[in-house]
Amino acid sequence: MQGPGKTQRMAHAALVTVRAPPNVKPGTMIGEKYRVEREIGRGGFGVVVRAMHLTLDQRVAIKVLTEGEGTTDLEWAEDAARFRREAKATAALRSEHVVRVLDVDVLESGYPYIVMEYLEGKTLHDLTYTAPAPLPVEDVVDYGIQVLAALADAHAAGIVHRDLKPANVFLSTGIGGAPLVKVLDFGVSKMLAASSQRLTRTGAVVGTLAYMAPEQMLDAKRVDGRADLWSLALVLYEALARAHPFGAHTAGPKVVTSILTEPIPPIRSYRADVPPALEAALLRMLEKPADLRFGSAIEAAAALAPFSSPRSRPVLDEIRRAAPPSGHAAPGFVSARGAPPSTSTSAPGRATSAARGKPMSPLVGFLLAFVIAVLVLGLVAAFVFYVQPRLSASAAVAAPSESTTSEAVASASASALSAVSVTPATRPLDSSERSSPPALSAPSRHAAPANPCDPPFVFDPETNVKRYKTECL
Ligand SMILES: Nc1ncnc2c1ncn2[C@@H]1O[C@H](COP(=O)(O)OP(=O)(O)OP(=O)(O)O)[C@@H](O)[C@H]1O
Ligand SMILES: [Mg+2]
Repeated sequence: MQGPGKTQRMAHAALVTVRAPPNVKPGTMIGEKYRVEREIGRGGFGVVVRAMHLTLDQRVAIKVLTEGEGTTDLEWAEDAARFRREAKATAALRSEHVVRVLDVDVLESGYPYIVMEYLEGKTLHDLTYTAPAPLPVEDVVDYGIQVLAALADAHAAGIVHRDLKPANVFLSTGIGGAPLVKVLDFGVSKMLAASSQRLTRTGAVVGTLAYMAPEQMLDAKRVDGRADLWSLALVLYEALARAHPFGAHTAGPKVVTSILTEPIPPIRSYRADVPPALEAALLRMLEKPADLRFGSAIEAAAALAPFSSPRSRPVLDEIRRAAPPSGHAAPGFVSARGAPPSTSTSAPGRATSAARGKPMSPLVGFLLAFVIAVLVLGLVAAFVFYVQPRLSASAAVAAPSESTTSEAVASASASALSAVSVTPATRPLDSSERSSPPALSAPSRHAAPANPCDPPFVFDPETNVKRYKTECL
């Protein structure tokens, strides 16, 4: 897989392709249809550019992932396949709070890229630290509820974000000028999971340490949606306090030990206007054992709802619609506090709306029960008025000794009926049916042979004399 801008060298006995950084200068064509306009920014995994879709005349944002530099050609090919698979699952998310993925492919030089809707606005990180005053509590809770709507949708599809942080929460403007939150980089860390497995062998972790849940630090492969609840609580804490609880904005050994061992400082020590119950809800999301956190994004939204503005009402309705019928676990997520965590953190594809299970309407349920009752009663009537009389008749034709067999048949039939739970409808057999001798005298295959001595004489009508049979004397 030799492409432009690549040289090869032998390292650790494997063929490693050393790639030149991807060319994303203004005017460059990507995938023959997107023309790069300008670079927007760079993050840990790659570079984001603004580009124009030339056929549709639509502005898009393209993220070119450069994180896999230094991988072997085989690993690179495996990563590209995985990348496409994960992007497909992410693109299927329908919440308007997840940035729309429009396309995904791999550059000729081997770098994978994601084409997204282009957003105007700023990240929560930028807003938090550039606003002239601390953000109002209600606004921060509203942003949190919109992020939870994205999480509820993704978790129901088995997708865990794994890298939620203020820079991945983007504030754009919705209809009517209301703030519209879009979560960026959904599934990106999973797309890079193949590389991350290689990296973790050397001690590196994919994702931003300062927002990473304790269990994700210890075993990134086994996290579920509760890791996202931890990260979101830190995002909201920081937006309210204008400070990270561990005072860490850069990765390092100190932040790891703090997250794993230190208690979270009370948010009200930074900001007295945070209601105690809101602080309690955030601290619940920041419990170090995942089992002690809320069981789902839906539960977390319910806890934050009392502190939101009326603008959050339609979002809360959307979250409620993502809830499974009561008593059922949300697919790909935990069922309740303390319940065992979902072991699967993979993205098995979009859960269909049918799988999310609309409850059956009472009318349909009633009609179904009625049809089943009519069918069962029909079966009982057929037995009582058609099958059973015929069983009795055939018993009558049989030898008297078979009356017990007919009784057994009747009782077996009765017990078969009771096995389908229709006991009251069975007609008890009357005693004549069960024990009377055969009513018909039709010759039977089983009749005894004629007695030659009955009578023991032969009567001659002409002489009016009875002549006894010698063999009967
Ligand atoms: N769809 C988009 N529309 C507009 N700007 C975007 C879009 N996606 C990302 N950006 C911006 O591009 C910049 C770089 O994003 P990127 O995700 O690469 O970096 P990051 O979030 O800081 O780090 P990380 O790589 O860890 O996610 C950020 O300023 C981000 O807000
Ligand atoms: Mg990002």
